[in-house]
Amino acid sequence: MEGLTDPILAWGEGALRPLPWRETRDRWRVLVSEVMLQQTQASRVAPKWAAFVAAYPSPAACAAAPLGEVLRRWEGLGYPRRCRNLHAAAREVVARHGGRVPGTLEELLALPGVGPYTARAVLAFADGRPVGVVDVNVARVLARVGGAPSGARALQARADALVPPDRAWEWNQSLMELGARVCTARAPSCGRCPAARACAWRGRGPDPARSSAHASPRQPPYEASDRQARGRLQRALARGTIAPAQLAGAMGLGRAHARARRLADALVDEGLARRSRGRYRLP
Ligand code: ADE
Repeated sequence: MEGLTDPILAWGEGALRPLPWRETRDRWRVLVSEVMLQQTQASRVAPKWAAFVAAYPSPAACAAAPLGEVLRRWEGLGYPRRCRNLHAAAREVVARHGGRVPGTLEELLALPGVGPYTARAVLAFADGRPVGVVDVNVARVLARVGGAPSGARALQARADALVPPDRAWEWNQSLMELGARVCTARAPSCGRCPAARACAWRGRGPDPARSSAHASPRQPPYEASDRQARGRLQRALARGTIAPAQLAGAMGLGRAHARARRLADALVDEGLARRSRGRYRLP
């Protein structure tokens, strides 16, 4: 993978979209953006992120708000567990780190909902620390340019080794952007790829990213329909409380009352809803 760094950095200088979180180096704002971006596309995240960090400019501001309020500001992004974890992380930052998002890998990994990807994204994007930020896009690019390493550990080691120490921010953003816009999963544009000359694959033969550990699995349909019903309930609860008999209707489940109850009670168990005075509501 000789000759990869300079062409990708040069490409990134002109290609990085002006996304709002690219303007900040504040750990809390970076953390919020990365949690939001985990399963939601950047164009949908941008306005939500701006409103969220305006409402909660610090971990303390978020920690002081009830989870129900934070969930309302999350509406439209989906996957409310991410929001619950972020809120729990804000509370832990206040309780254990004096209100400042910590700056070591170990401390970041100990926060609720913060995994290897998110922790390194905070280090690289807020502090410019020389770590490789490996999401599915980056994993695909690395597998293609240099052959798929086996296992997450080897992949992380390769990603770390490629980071130019004084340009960690630019490098990781550029690699991510390349994966999102050029070295895409289904129709890679090798003809306009800055890394083509250094790439082992170059679009010819079997795709090394296909067999990599990071190839994204498909959601089973059953799971999808449960998720849809849960999402509908979450949105309905953001507007007001719901009686048990209204659950199935609110969730688009017709007369499947037992299923609706089961899904609603699962939300309660997960801390995403609560039941009081006979009605379901946000926590
Ligand atoms: N997806 C995850 N992190 C991102 C970032 N910093 N910019 C654009 N898309 C992203």
